[in-house]
Parts: sequence; structure tokens; C-alpha cells
Amino acid sequence: MEFDKPATTNPIDQLKVVGKPVHRIDGESKTTGRAIYAYEWHDPKVAYAYGYPVGSSIAKGRVLSIDSAAVRKAPGVLGVVTTLDVGDLEKGKYNTAKLFGGSEVQHYHQAVAVVIAETFEQARAAAALIRIDYAAEKGRFDLKAEKTSAKTPEPSTEPESAAGDFQAAFSAAPITLDAEYTTPDQSHAMMEPHASIAAWNGDEITLWTSSQMIDWWRTDLATTLGIEKEKVHLMSPFIGGGFGGKLFLRADAVLAALAAKKIGRPVKVALPRPMIPNNTTHRPATIQRIRIGAERSGKITAIAHESWSGDLPGGGPEPAVMQTRLLYAGENRITAMKLATLDLPEGNAMRAPGEAPGLMALEIAMDEMAEKLGMDPIEFRILNDTQVDPENPERPFSYRDLVGCLKLGAQKFGWDKRPRTGTKREGNWMVGMGVAAAFRNNLVMPSGARVKLDAEGTVTVETDMTDIGTGSYTIIAQTAAEMMGVTVDKVAVQLGDSRFPVSAGSGGQFGANSATSGVYAACVKLREAITAKLGINSTDVVFEDGQVKSGSRVVSLAEAAGPDGLVGEDTMEWGDLTKTHQQSTFGGHFVEVGVDVATGETRIRRMLAVCAAGRILNPITARSQVIGAMTMGAGGALMEELSVDTRHGFFVNHDLAGYEVPVHADIPHQEVIFLDETDPYSSPMKAKGVGELGLCGVSAAIANAIYNATGVRVRDYPITLDKLLEKLPDVA
Ligand code: MOS
Repeated sequence: MEFDKPATTNPIDQLKVVGKPVHRIDGESKTTGRAIYAYEWHDPKVAYAYGYPVGSSIAKGRVLSIDSAAVRKAPGVLGVVTTLDVGDLEKGKYNTAKLFGGSEVQHYHQAVAVVIAETFEQARAAAALIRIDYAAEKGRFDLKAEKTSAKTPEPSTEPESAAGDFQAAFSAAPITLDAEYTTPDQSHAMMEPHASIAAWNGDEITLWTSSQMIDWWRTDLATTLGIEKEKVHLMSPFIGGGFGGKLFLRADAVLAALAAKKIGRPVKVALPRPMIPNNTTHRPATIQRIRIGAERSGKITAIAHESWSGDLPGGGPEPAVMQTRLLYAGENRITAMKLATLDLPEGNAMRAPGEAPGLMALEIAMDEMAEKLGMDPIEFRILNDTQVDPENPERPFSYRDLVGCLKLGAQKFGWDKRPRTGTKREGNWMVGMGVAAAFRNNLVMPSGARVKLDAEGTVTVETDMTDIGTGSYTIIAQTAAEMMGVTVDKVAVQLGDSRFPVSAGSGGQFGANSATSGVYAACVKLREAITAKLGINSTDVVFEDGQVKSGSRVVSLAEAAGPDGLVGEDTMEWGDLTKTHQQSTFGGHFVEVGVDVATGETRIRRMLAVCAAGRILNPITARSQVIGAMTMGAGGALMEELSVDTRHGFFVNHDLAGYEVPVHADIPHQEVIFLDETDPYSSPMKAKGVGELGLCGVSAAIANAIYNATGVRVRDYPITLDKLLEKLPDVA
């Protein structure tokens, strides 16, 4: 099915099941430990072996030799596969860095060997005995030092945009801001580590793994192993978080496949936590310069956003300027990205790539500008709202209610009680409020599904869609239930298996809307199969209460299916509506903080997000996405930072002891409000994504609240105590 015209009324609009607060259908299996994650697959008849990966101890250079004699003699060892043994492997389509094979080292902790033993402990102990000689080369590891060497990246990354005459307008503006902001490298830090079990059957491989994108992984694993894609079977039904870290094939999958081949037994490989930040991928650090010029009325006349980031050769920029192309009005504007070559681990997508770090800067800049103008920061944003793409004014937004989010949020949060900067004290706490706009584009991806109806009247959905904790199982069940006129408990959902139709996968907050649209399309086919079989007119047919009704004729779905059952399969494809109309999601983040006047410690007291993201398919799972994202934004504001060793080229704090993420005690009462809206341009579901929107802007709202509390403006994330302490008022 192609979605090429705005949606009209369809069976989803009944909202008997879709839009309802249905609890996760996979919740019980997860909370009782019966959901099987990648590393846990266990067939009692199979003697699994364990592979322990070895990472490069240099950041750039070559592996000269690997001595594994001592490893092979260690207890329980079954074999070793080294990067020199396998030679150069072809790199898949999606990774920047190579994962394994050959002598070249592109980054620290790149996999250089896997040691296979009867037990995990034996493999780990033996791996410590490996001796590797390297020829290290000088690398480039410091973004600040490389900033001047940064170049405009590939045209495919859309590195630059412009409209009007920025320089002239900025020079003429009576009120201006010109400020630099930095965001650090961040780690996905999902709970479940990257893990794979590989089992060969002749020349075919089955891999249980933890992947957001089954088909991308299948394609790249086949390429890397040099086998046909049809010989690769991937399974990833449950995933303990991804945040973008599992979008692309990772080393655990390649090592498990090669290790299993080597010893002729199934092998399990998990990346040890301390190897993950350097072996895999991260959100690249940015340096961002923002210039805004406005009339005294507050109307923006000039806006420029430039961003510098780094990546390995062949990589791309962190697209931190993207939201600035669309968020605020202003006739004269430029955005530009510059990319430096860095020999750090691969920089790539992490939750809301672009907008998340971009808004961390832009939404502080807006707060600073409002202050210069003597305006309320919400009023300033509302004044500069736009209903069209400001770079291409003939292109409207499909639906945009940023103003509604900000107004409702202000009212619900008690914005009128925001203190004057640096004036509110409660004991040792300086108290303040901050706001930021949230903005994230709504992307769509082709998505397929197969829907089966059996003689019990059970509807089974099969798609290679993944559920990374987001609620995919549940919203897919709701969609099929709505379409087929059954209750959710009559729907079985099977996900994450490469034998199923190729779906959108989980990424870019496109999963929910795209994957349910694919299920919608498949259900349309199944409805047609049912009406064709019954010989009834498909225009007056109603599917409800587990029955097909047409005029006076009523047939149960079970009976309609018959002993052989019926199947519908289709893929939702997307026409030009994302080109003719700018599709985005919007929100307002409101935060209250207390900052300890003596220690500079920030405690978040309250958080509110108001989101406008089309139809909300399930308010429980959607809220869960947003509060999780708000939590991640708290980490980004206050603690998360991969610390770069700029001499040796690696992230020093490469575990969850050193890379701090928020815990329950860091997070206060959180509230989420969804505006009641539908976007007929987005899909037949009229829904958009919320999984990344919830993160966009949060950190800036916290930074702005800290400023309101203390009068100290910090432009370098994370806002740790040391950056506040020396500037706090003297209380001695
Ligand atoms: Mo997201 S960074 O596309 O998983």
C-alpha cells in the first residue's frame, strides 16, 4: 500500500483499542523473567561455548603479531580467532568503522581477537594471556584542537542551508547574541549489553542477537561473512534498550559467527560493559556557535547555527543544526556543519541524533536572547513561531502546535511563579524554573507485516519489527485488534525474526507510526481476503466483536478463517507527503531545580513535558517513552560525558561506574501531557513518534532553570558542580 494522500476516516478512527491505555502485552513475560534476551537463549541439548572478545589497546595503527600460544594452553580453551587469521573482511553498508578483520586498527578497543572456551570464566581468564604487538600511529583525538581543520562534509549530509542575507540582518539588529556552546561525547549506556549467539547449520547461520534493525544487520552480517543474505537467520525478539547503539551490526555478532564456525559449536559472545563505549559507537561531541539578531519587539530577523563535530574517516557529522532550520521564524538565516577527522571510536546515531545536542545549545541561546530582550522566554518563542518551513516558506508544516504545548505547559507548571533570576532561596537551595521547546522531525520508513487469521479466530501478526522497550508489541496488537474487530487478547504478535516481512525497525522515532502502518496495510489485505472468501461486498462490511458483518449476514472470524486460515501481507510505502509538508513533532519542557548554594549540587525538583505528536497510540507506552527520555535529558544536562584521553585516544570512563547516568534518586516527579491531536499527513494511523521528542530540549530546560536559580550561565555540558561552584554567590 502506498500512503500518498492525507488519511481520511478509516477503521483505526474507531479508537476502540488504539489510543487506549493498554498495558504491555509482553509486560508479564518481562517482569517474570520469561522473556528471553539474546545471551539467554538456551537449548538444553546444545553445548554452548563462550567467546570473550579482546579489544585493541592502541587507537590507531596496525597489529603486527598476535601470540596466542599461552591462551590455547589455558584450561577449557577451545580456540582463538584473531583479526590477523581472518584477514580483511568486507565492511557492511551501515558501519563507519570496520568491526573485525585485518591488521589495521582504526580505534581503541576495536575487536582484535575472540577467545573461545567451555565457560565464560575460562574464556575471560584465557583472553588475558594474549600477547599482541602493535605499530601505533599518531592519531587525532581532540575536537577542540581539530576544529580549525574541520571541513564541510559530504553533500549527502546536507551540511549547509541559507535564506536571505544573514550577515546584513545580524549587523543591523539592535539586539544580538553570539555565543558558543559545547556538548560532550555521550554513550548509549543501554541496560542490555550487545550480545549474540551464533549457530551454524552447514552454510547457514542462525544468530540470536540484540538488534534494533533486523534487515540492516542481516544485510551487513551476510556481507561481512561473505555469504548470501538468505543464509542468515536473525532473531531478536526482546531487546534491553538500544538508543541507537544497536541500529547497526556490532562486533559481538561477527565474533560469535566466526567463533562458532571455528569450533563447530554454537558460541555466545557478549561485549563486556567496559568494552562497549570504545568498541561500539557513541554520540559525538559538538562545538556549536549560535548567533541570533532580533528587533526590540523580539522578532527574530537573523539566526545562524554552526556546529563542529568529529568522526573517523568516512563518517558523518552530528547534525546538530537541523532543528534550527525549522523551529523558529526569521527571514535571514544560515546553518552549517563542519566535520573534523578524529581517530576516536565511531560516532553515530544516539537517540534524537542532531536535535538532542542541537537543542541543548539552541534552547539556551533562546533563553539568553529572551533575557537580553527583557522578554519572558515563552513569549519570545511564541512570537517567533512559524507555521511554514522558514527556509522554504511555500512548504507548510503538516500540523504544528508548539504554541499550544508552551501555553498549556506554562499554565500547568505554574510558570507565573517563576522567580526573578537568582532571587529565590529555600534554606541552602537556590530555586529556579526553566523552559525549552522540544522539536524532532517525524520520519517514516517502509514497513511490512503479515497477519494470519486461524480457525480459533486468533489474529497473529508477524513482522521483523523490534521492541527495544518501547512498546512495539502492544501497539501492534492494538492496531491489529482495531482493524480486525477483536480484543487485544485475541492477537498474538511475533517480532524480531528475519523470516518475517521487513519492517521499519526501531530508530529515529519512526518505529511506532511506520510499523503500525505496515500492520494496518497487512490487515487491509486480510480483510479483503476474508470478504473475498465469504463473497461479501467489502464496502459495507464491518469487523467487530470477532465477527464479520455485512447487512444481515454475520460470520465469526473463526468460521471465516476455516481450517486452513487466511493471510494478509503487505508493506506500507510512503509517497511525497513528507516532501510537500514538513512533518515534525513538538513539545515544551518545564523544569524546576534547586541548586545547593554551598556545593553547587543541582537537584531536579519537578519536570513537565507537553507533547504534540499526532495521535497517541497508547498513552501508557507513550508516556513511558517520554519520561525515559526526560530522564536521559537529565543525564545529559547534569552528568553524562565520555571523557576523552586526548593523548592515547580513548574514552576513559568506559563503564557505568565512571559514565554516570541518572538513577531513581536523581529523578523527581515527572508529568507528561499529550495534546489531543491527529496528523492525517503522517499515516493512516495519524500518529507520529514520541520516543526521541521527549529528549529534545530537556537538558536546555534544566540549564535554563539552573540559570534562573543561580544567575550562572553554563554553556558547556554537562553542568557539573565545578562549573557552577566558583561563580555561585558567596555565602560565607
Ligand atoms: Mo535512534 S538514534 O535512530 O535508535
